[in-house]
Amino acid sequence: MLFDLRPKTKRADLYDREKELREFQSAVNLGEDLILLLGIRRLGKSSLLNVALAESGFPYAKIDVRSLYFTHGSIPQGILARKILDSLLATVSGRKSLRLKLEKVLSSIRGLRVSGLSVEFERKPDLAEILEKISSWAENENLRAIIAFDEAQYLRLSGIRYDGLIAYGVDSLPGITFALTGSEVGMLHDFLGLEDPKKPLFGRYAREIVLQRFRREESMDFLRRGFEEVGIKPSRQEIGDAVGRFDGIVGWLTMYGYLRGVRKLPHAQAMDELFNMAEKLIRGELSSLIRNSRRYGVILKAVAMGNVRWSTIKEYVEFKMGPVNDAKFSVLLKNLLKYGYLEKKGNEYSIPDPVVKEVVKNLQLTPR
Ligand SMILES: Nc1ncnc2c1ncn2[C@@H]1O[C@H](COP(=O)(O)OP(=O)(O)OP(=O)(O)O)[C@@H](O)[C@H]1O
Ligand SMILES: [Mg+2]
Repeated sequence: MLFDLRPKTKRADLYDREKELREFQSAVNLGEDLILLLGIRRLGKSSLLNVALAESGFPYAKIDVRSLYFTHGSIPQGILARKILDSLLATVSGRKSLRLKLEKVLSSIRGLRVSGLSVEFERKPDLAEILEKISSWAENENLRAIIAFDEAQYLRLSGIRYDGLIAYGVDSLPGITFALTGSEVGMLHDFLGLEDPKKPLFGRYAREIVLQRFRREESMDFLRRGFEEVGIKPSRQEIGDAVGRFDGIVGWLTMYGYLRGVRKLPHAQAMDELFNMAEKLIRGELSSLIRNSRRYGVILKAVAMGNVRWSTIKEYVEFKMGPVNDAKFSVLLKNLLKYGYLEKKGNEYSIPDPVVKEVVKNLQLTPR
């Protein structure tokens, strides 16, 4: 069902994204080592990743790094190793000889035991060694194993140099492809450092698949088809209104479709409810940022209220919070670009998501 709120896992539930799926498959078939799926929040990265992995025909492990980080406050190596192995074992569970060979290879690691679809460690696992075993197993089987990290930029927030581990995999483990998604695109690029000579992945090639928002026609068609599935037929005007407000962001279109089509709320009520839900979501997403510096919230509010230039945004922030020096202010702006909360075209800043913009505009920010 198109209006299911969870990230999609089946192609039948995924609207379009044909080109992106083909590109992903072609990268894996060509034996590329590193694939990036990029785009601001709610554009459907996780859904695309799920379907691409399921359709790839290859064994894979998928780790939701963001939720791992929020559960543990960091990304411990042991937990990551277990997640990778549990997920990989699950995807080969239906292919007996493949699974048995994987179990055998893994059992050769000291201190690691496979029991059923799960692994036990008798001592601290060495993730590099585990990846080596996975790679050699995949190579022997004439396959590739895809290791997918959803919201991979969170890997940077642990004491461990996971960028070095990925670089090792890219350079030395021919049976493995890494697929990484990121909604904080600038943060993911910083973490990987493909263009930073001081970083281990410097100079490596990555296939970048950048998700775009739906065009107006696609948004209309998405809603029409979704409503058809649940057997209701909202007016053209309602559909036009929704499409006009969500600017092709599939996450909001899906949420609207769910409220209007599955919960069957009248249009105006569905919109109200959507903004209520969105406000809670967005407040949660912004809270850790604003905890770091209240100025982030004030900058976003300045932009939401129509200040687009560096100098007018700064004036607003200083009016609300007192003086801030130019360099520090520029760093804050740059970080908001990296997190994907702001976009910059020419000399003008904007908030790329109209729902975020609306919510931020009404945000009550207590001074200091
Ligand atoms: N192509 C699609 N067809 C139908 N529904 C989709 C599609 N892409 C995403 N969705 C829906 O949109 C919402 C957001 O999707 P998803 O979680 O995959 O996006 P995301 O980019 O990973 O978001 P986030 O940045 O929050 O992790 C979900 O409700 C999902 O079911
Ligand atoms: Mg996601």
